[in-house]
Parts: sequence; C-alpha cells; structure tokens
Amino acid sequence: MSKSTSVLGTRLKRVDAKGKIRGEIKFLSDIQEADMRHAAPVFSQVAYGKLLGIDTRAVENDPDYIAFFSARDIPGENQVGVILEDQPLMADDVVRYVGDSVGILIAKTAESAQRLSRLVLVNIEPVPPLFSINESRDATDNFLHETNLACQHQVKRGDLDKAFAEADHIIEAQFETPFQEHYYLEPQACIAQVTPEGGIEILGSIQCPFYVQKAVSKALAIPFSKIRVEQSPTGGAFGGKEDIPSETCTRAALAALILKRPIKMVYDRATDIQLTSKRHPFQMHYKVGVSKSGKLLAAEIKLEENAGAYATLSSVVSYRSAMQALGPYVIDNISVESKSYYTNLPPTGAFRGFGSPQAAFGHERMMDVIATQLNMDPIEFRLQNIVRVDTQTLTGHHLISSVGAEETLKTAADACDWTNRESINNARWKTGYGVSLIHYGNCLGAAGWFMDGSGVKIKLHRDGSISVAFGLIEMGQGALTVVQQMTAEALGVEPSRITVLPTDTDQVPDSGPAVASRNVVMTGNAIRDAASKLLPILNEAAAELMQCDLKEITIEQGEVSNIRNNETLSFAELSNYLYLSNRPMDVLGWWHVPELDYDAASGVGEAYFTYSYATHIARVKVDTLTGQVKVDKLWASHDVGRAINPAGLEAQIEGGTAQGIGWALTEDFKVDEGKVLTDNLTTYLLPTALDVGEIESILVEDPEPEGPWGAKGIGEPAIIPTAAAIANAVSNAMGKSVTHIPIRPEHILDMVGE
Ligand code: MOS
Repeated sequence: MSKSTSVLGTRLKRVDAKGKIRGEIKFLSDIQEADMRHAAPVFSQVAYGKLLGIDTRAVENDPDYIAFFSARDIPGENQVGVILEDQPLMADDVVRYVGDSVGILIAKTAESAQRLSRLVLVNIEPVPPLFSINESRDATDNFLHETNLACQHQVKRGDLDKAFAEADHIIEAQFETPFQEHYYLEPQACIAQVTPEGGIEILGSIQCPFYVQKAVSKALAIPFSKIRVEQSPTGGAFGGKEDIPSETCTRAALAALILKRPIKMVYDRATDIQLTSKRHPFQMHYKVGVSKSGKLLAAEIKLEENAGAYATLSSVVSYRSAMQALGPYVIDNISVESKSYYTNLPPTGAFRGFGSPQAAFGHERMMDVIATQLNMDPIEFRLQNIVRVDTQTLTGHHLISSVGAEETLKTAADACDWTNRESINNARWKTGYGVSLIHYGNCLGAAGWFMDGSGVKIKLHRDGSISVAFGLIEMGQGALTVVQQMTAEALGVEPSRITVLPTDTDQVPDSGPAVASRNVVMTGNAIRDAASKLLPILNEAAAELMQCDLKEITIEQGEVSNIRNNETLSFAELSNYLYLSNRPMDVLGWWHVPELDYDAASGVGEAYFTYSYATHIARVKVDTLTGQVKVDKLWASHDVGRAINPAGLEAQIEGGTAQGIGWALTEDFKVDEGKVLTDNLTTYLLPTALDVGEIESILVEDPEPEGPWGAKGIGEPAIIPTAAAIANAVSNAMGKSVTHIPIRPEHILDMVGE
C-alpha cells in the first residue's frame, strides 16, 4: 500500500467519544434487567482473626431481604487466587484484612443490600495483625499463609565483590514509595445471570474477561463453554480491574445460579477502596559502585514490597521490578532481590506499571544521588551509562534494535533547553529541574510467556462493512480507536467501514489479560495475521471478477482497482461477490510473543521481547513558606516505536503523567489498624487540572521489528518516570535528597527547617 493512503499516524477521532460525551453509552450501573436483585458484600471489620460464625438473624425479617450466601454455598472450589492459590472466594476460616469478604447479601434494591449487609454480625476472634513489611519479614510465627514471603524474583550477574573492590566510589541510599489507589471513576460493577441452558452470563466493568470465565468455572464447577463474559463500557481500570472482578463477578454468579435471577453488584466508593487492590508500597535499598569518571560498575539492590493479605498479582510486580531495577543502563555486575511480604492490609496488585514506577523511583533517585556526589550533570552521567543498540540490559539482554533511550533523553533535554536552564530563586520560591529515564518491558515477559498470545476475529459482511472482535479491551485508553485504525490499515479500507465490538469470551480466542501495555502490540499483530488470511481471498475474488491477474489488483481506501484496464470496483461489490462465490468471510488472527532466552534461576537473559523507553523532565516551583510544590512544566519524551494515533498517544502520556503527579505530590493513602481512612475524594486528593501544569509530549519513533508497523506499548510507560522526575526536581531545588513520596508540604517545611 502506498504511504499516501495510510491511516497510521493520523489523529483519528475516538470512536466512543460522542456516545460517552452525550451520555448515550450505558455504563453498568445504568442497566436494569427485569427481575433483577441486588448484591452487597459482607466483609470483615477486623484486620486478622479467626472466623467463628456469621449471624444473619438481624436482617432476615426485613421485607427487602432475599438471601445471604457464604463459603459453604460454593459448589466448586473456594479459591480465587489469580496466580497463587492463596485466596478463598469467601473466607471460611481466617480473615486476613478489613474487607476480606465472608459472604454476599442479596436484597430487592441496591440501597437495601448495602444497608442490610452492614447489619450482618460477623463473629471474629482477633489475632495480632502485621501491617508493615518489617513486621512481616521479621515475624517468627503468626504467619498469614504458610510463610509471610508471598513471592520473590532476582537477578544475579557478573562478579559483584570484584566489581565493588574496583569501584572508586560506593554509594548507598534508601527510598520508600507508598500505596496508590486506582480511583477509576467507575467503581467495580457487574451483572450475572443464568441462561435457560444452565450456563452463566456475565456483563461487567472488567479488564480481563478470560480471568473471570476461569474463576467462575472453578468456583461454580461449570465448564468454560457454559460461561460467557462480556465487558461493559468501562470507566477506567488502571490494573484495578485485572483480578478483582474475578471475585465480584464470581460471587454475583453464585447468587444468580442459586436464585435464578439476574444479580447486580456495584460497589459504593468507600467499599471499593477498602476491599480492592492498590499499588504495592516499596522499601528499596541501593548500593552502587562507580568509577571516578562515572561509569556504573556494580549494583546491589534490595526491593521489598507490601503485598497485603493475598498475593494476587504480586509475583508480576516482584518480577518486573527486579528485571528493571536499575533502569536502562549498562551494568555488568549486579544483584537484585525483589521480595513481596504478606501483611494484614488490603491486597496490593496490578496498578499501571506493575512495580515499575516504584523501581523507577529507586533507580532514578539513585542516579541523581550518584551524579550529585560525583559533581556531574545528571544527563551527562546518564548518557555515559545508557543502553544503546548492541549493548546489554541489566539482565544481560543483548539489544539489537528499537533502543530509543538516548533519543528520548536528548529530545527532552533539547525541548526544555537543559543546558541553559535557569533557576529563578528568591527567599520564598525555589525552582528545580529533575530528569528521569526508564525502560519498560513490553507484554508479559519471560515469567508469563506461556500465556502471552492474543487474537482477533475479523468478519466481512456482504455490504462491505467489517466487524472486528478483539480479545483485549477498551478501558478508557482508546483501544477501540486504534483497533479500528489498525484494521483499516491492514485491509486497505476506510476506518468508517469498521465496527469494533465489545469484548466477549464467546467471540474470540482466550487472549490473556488486558494488561502490561499489551493492546497495540498484541492486537495489532493479530490484526495483521488476520489480514494476511483475508487479503489473498479478496485479491483472488477481485481478479476473478475483473478478469485480470492477481498482482494487478490493489485495494486502497475501500476501492478495488486493477492496473490492466484501470477498472474499479467498490469494496461492497467485492464483498458481495465473496459471498456469492462461496468464499470464507470470517478470519481469526493470532499473535504470540516470540520466544525468549531467559534463565529463571539467575534472572539473566531476555526478560521481555522489547522495551519502550521514556524520559520525563520536570520543572518544579517550591514554595518554602507554605511547603507547596507546583509542577510548572513537564516534558515527556516517549519512544513508542511507531505512533499509530498521535492524539491517543498524547492523551495516554498526559493521563499517565497526571497520575504520576498525584502519586508524587497529592495522594496520601492512609490506613489505621487496617481500616482505610482516605476512602473518598475529600481525603484522598487526586490532582486536578490546576495541579497538573503544562505537559509537553514528544514522540520518538524507533521502530520495533516485531511490533505492528513498528509500534510498542505506551499505557504504562506514561506514568513510570514521572514521580522520580518530580522528586529529582524537588531535590535539586532544595539541595537535599528526597527519599520518599508523596512530597507533602510538611516534608518541604521539614527540609526548610533542617
Ligand atoms: Mo496493568 S498493572 O498492566 O493491569
């Protein structure tokens, strides 16, 4: 296809924009079925204890009460752990956090379900809880599970002792990062109902329909083929709807199965925040040896994570944070240990980046600590050590292409005029600049390789319109639009011809989870695979119809032409001819991540098949009178391989950056004895438009040969460097090292007072 007709790189408008802006798209809470009943969870108010009994007598006579179900009503296995089998669907013996569900209450209305759920008496004999990483690690008994260590990953490469002995400087520092609440605008929500054939249908605000299907099958002992999961339009997820819906949907499905009625469950905000997963808090210890000239020689890194009550996605977080623990720099001697510990807090799990923003905070603060000690410019220091083509990552992955790290650093530095940057300081206001550089392994990586495949189904209709079903999802990030755009490009038709369907487990092969910035890479490649099957059929039919040679046919912008006699044919005519000539019109496309050469014991090798790179530079103004930090401007340069839709990309960068600003400055998640205190927007401060400041997005395109048209993932890279850039800028402004976030006014005032 000629470049002139390409829809790649164009700012195609969001296909779901109008419906969302006009309020025409129905979110789950808008949906009302006949005969529907409503559910609310009944959960532990105690952080740790033995479950002695549940007493529902106080609610049974209420006219709105319908039923209460608990662990003993589960026909299959009482197990919902997504990776480790450590989590009951409903606690039947031990409760491990405030929010651990012990049952589900069904009533006539949503309001009465919530009201009555609070009147159920849950009798628990408390056990002394463990809340901190240190308490959990050091405990000798009273373990939450068989052990308090939920999972761990490591990297061991080179000769650490020798390299430290040869280093001119050995520098150590510790950093801490806190919880972060996803605060998706739409809370957890689902409807479950039984089909006349005894199957289950679920509609839900979810990230991973295939996870839900598996969870329902296991707990209700129903085969996958009788369980259909469809995604409703989803108002944000950020990882918070990766595994949690497996719990909510399965509990609702249990009630639907027993009562033979549609069951709807929508969490209110406070319940959602108390019960669902968060970003893992990290404690990090970095010890790095460097030469006089600033070359990284040796690194010993210990990462410790607060996993909360159940492992959920902790192993993905410990894997990813270990594989990226020192960032996109060349280092030949390294030891990384990343360990997640159980505590009696809400489970921490998937949250945009899977541990990457935490590790980035560690390695990028560390780079600035080293550069400051060596009296080197932070960008010069990074450039000396940065990965390039034909170097190796910290895990020893030999990079051969699409390594845009240096270009992101240089373009960001140019955009903010780094060498001429001015700090205008006076007695009250201090300005600071901070840089942060990251890499992000695309897709699931070596640890999740076995399930790193995704599919699409392209259906050509007789009138020349096209439906596309894909196995990943739209959660607000713009997936529907890029799927439409990539399908148009692959088939040589106009985007308006294509309708992208809501994700439905009955329509597409199990495509794994919609996580890890996978969508463009996986779905784009699957679309290309499907197109490679459909295009020959179209070309052959066109040649037959137009009586010319196959190679004389072109399909562009929905017009079919042949160069022999310059005849044209509409795409609709050709589609109808496919039907009339009895040719296949449905094709499946599939793509799996290429094989990875990786050794799990040492953590050495190709941890991921490729990496996205990004540099953020923040300029902050610190008010030393009030302690307020204002992000004045943030330059965000991202190597995305190839920009499919620049408008969508910039929106991702701005959204991720805003979320990173919140984590760095305003969001201060507080828990007391396991009870979340910040369970609303009055106490959990999300940044507003006024807090975000100006963001300048810069797109670097260093094509990835395995990516569709060269593209790599952007969803998570958008947030990963932000907090470290801000902390580096505040450190620069104050002349003191910021070691933890959020940077609240009281911390600034403490620094002023020191
Ligand atoms: Mo996201 S942490 O990849 O669900």
